[in-house]
Amino acid sequence: MTATPDPVRSLDARYYTDPAIYADEMQGLFARTWLFAGHASQLEKPGDYFAFELAGESLFCVKGHDSEIRTFYNVCQHRAHRMVEGSGSSKVLVCPYHAWTYELTGGLRAGPNIKSVEGFDRSKICLTGVRTEIFLGFIFVNLDPDAAPMDEWFPNARAELESYVPNWADLKPLEWVEIPENCNWKVSVENYSECYHCSLNHPTFATGVIKPETYDIQPQGKCLRHTTECNSLDQMTYDIQSGFENNEKYSSWFLWPMFSFQVYPGNLLNTYHWRPIDADHVVVWRGWYSIGGEENAVVRQMAVQDRETTVEEDIHLVESVQRGLKSRGYVPGPLVVDPCNGVNSEHSILHLQRWMREAVHG
Ligand code: FES
Ligand SMILES: [Fe+2]
Repeated sequence: MTATPDPVRSLDARYYTDPAIYADEMQGLFARTWLFAGHASQLEKPGDYFAFELAGESLFCVKGHDSEIRTFYNVCQHRAHRMVEGSGSSKVLVCPYHAWTYELTGGLRAGPNIKSVEGFDRSKICLTGVRTEIFLGFIFVNLDPDAAPMDEWFPNARAELESYVPNWADLKPLEWVEIPENCNWKVSVENYSECYHCSLNHPTFATGVIKPETYDIQPQGKCLRHTTECNSLDQMTYDIQSGFENNEKYSSWFLWPMFSFQVYPGNLLNTYHWRPIDADHVVVWRGWYSIGGEENAVVRQMAVQDRETTVEEDIHLVESVQRGLKSRGYVPGPLVVDPCNGVNSEHSILHLQRWMREAVHG
């Protein structure tokens, strides 16, 4: 006789509330996973750069004269002043403290009076680079110099996305909206990664976009792939005739731990990006894209509809959960993992929480 195993329970509340666990994620998880930095269209010509924060570090991306986009820690190799602020364009990178000057490839080019120093070897000094990959025009970075490439982390995602968004190289951001949420980043990511709550909480999405009985989420390496058939397409609120294949489908690719590509019917690309602030706060970036970033009525309409329905509906859910996780009265409940999977199953949360646990305990 084998005893029936106990159902798997949701993660302990401290994973979402304890600042020590958050600090651990900053040092570990965020420093060895592929995280979104920006869009390649932010760097149009050689010398264009922008700075950003990630895993408690200031970094910047810059386009070289060879058109390659590189990422560096935003710190001078002389006496540690910050190299750049915000965004801009410059033929060389000049540190504001003592004017050491670096090439766009990071090598030291010159510095006042350095020739007076015997044995000073300019060629040995270089800004510290960060692993960078361009994924369908999106810049991702990984602080781990030994990280496996994105195609190993997220098998097939790139090719699949290219077949859903064949015009990706022409797209630029039309709208990037930041949505602050009072919850741990994992609460928001989990909410994104199951549709057990959809029929009750997202009437527009569940009836207007997808066919819930066909919705599923499956792991693909460290990607969670969402697939569904769409509702009767004649009921769609916009014209989905794009002339491309896969125009009648909805799909999304969540790239662990904090980015997701979504494609709406009509091959409409949009993205989710989570930027954790501390254990209790996260900012969700919602991105929508159009050809050349030009005004596009359909994309704008979808962006507004999404913000007024799904996004708004989810904020209340995740903030209520965060308050609940802090209650003495909460005991983590069993996950509803249906062996047949499907829309009303939390098997995707099972995978996600396994990765979340591993991130803290190795
Ligand atoms: S710290 Fe950058 S030049 Fe001195
Ligand atoms: Fe939701």
